Amino acid sequence: MDYTERVLNPAKLPKHVAIIMDGNGRWAQQQGRERTYGHKHGVEAVRSVIEGAGEMGIPYLTLYAFSTENWNRPREEVEMLMGLLVQAIHNELDGLMKNHVRLQVTGRLGDLPDNSRAVLQDAIDRTAGNDGLTVVLALSYSGRAELVDMARKVAREAASGTLDPETVTTETVQQHLYHGEIPDPDILIRTGGDCRVSNFLLWQIAYAELFFVPTMWPDFRKEDLREIVLDFQHRERRYGKTGEQVREQ
Ligand code: IPE
Ligand code: IPE
Ligand code: MG
Repeated sequence: MDYTERVLNPAKLPKHVAIIMDGNGRWAQQQGRERTYGHKHGVEAVRSVIEGAGEMGIPYLTLYAFSTENWNRPREEVEMLMGLLVQAIHNELDGLMKNHVRLQVTGRLGDLPDNSRAVLQDAIDRTAGNDGLTVVLALSYSGRAELVDMARKVAREAASGTLDPETVTTETVQQHLYHGEIPDPDILIRTGGDCRVSNFLLWQIAYAELFFVPTMWPDFRKEDLREIVLDFQHRERRYGKTGEQVREQ
């Protein structure tokens, strides 16, 4: 592609990028190290993409850090990941403040150890007034669990008489998700070479552009994110219409 074309078009920036940060364990094992070594180095990739997303002016970045299914991993790995989360937030908080990042979380947070929840809440409170990139950490997250929790909220309102079932629309569903106010991801990236969504943002990715890349998460950097955003800007999003219709708009 012509070099001049590889310039970001500010009018076509994604509003929301979601990333399945996969491949930490294999990255470490390829080097004859423990899987946990990969998780530690994954933090460097997180720092880089947060910086990159902020520099590009992307408003929302959701990072899949731990799924509900990940609780089934060996106890030592789960404990290490929970410890790493607390340590990473502690170490990165100054940088987040400097970059005007607002931190949010999504998932069944009640599943997390008390100290992890407290550290997260503190970081959410401290960054709440920042007006730059919003980073949403998906922790103990499952797309199906989010839909179950949504259904429970809607059913409760219907049972109490504050909601008429006949008026339920896609907007009602959207509003009862964990973060109904956040726009759907325009881009979903999965590193690590596998082509699956592993229970991530099932409702929200209905029209996301999907990018599956072979790079293992600890090697992923903001330059890789920028290349994906550039490719995204050349994709035609038709939302069910014909290409001609879309180009006429
Ligand atoms: C992603 O890397 C991090 C988490 C799921 C917590 P993995 O730990 O899944 O790494 P691979 O996929 O086994 O290489
Ligand atoms: C998805 O990765 C979850 C996160 C990146 C946090 P997994 O490694 O858990 O996904 P599967 O098991 O390969 O589908
Ligand atoms: Mg994995």
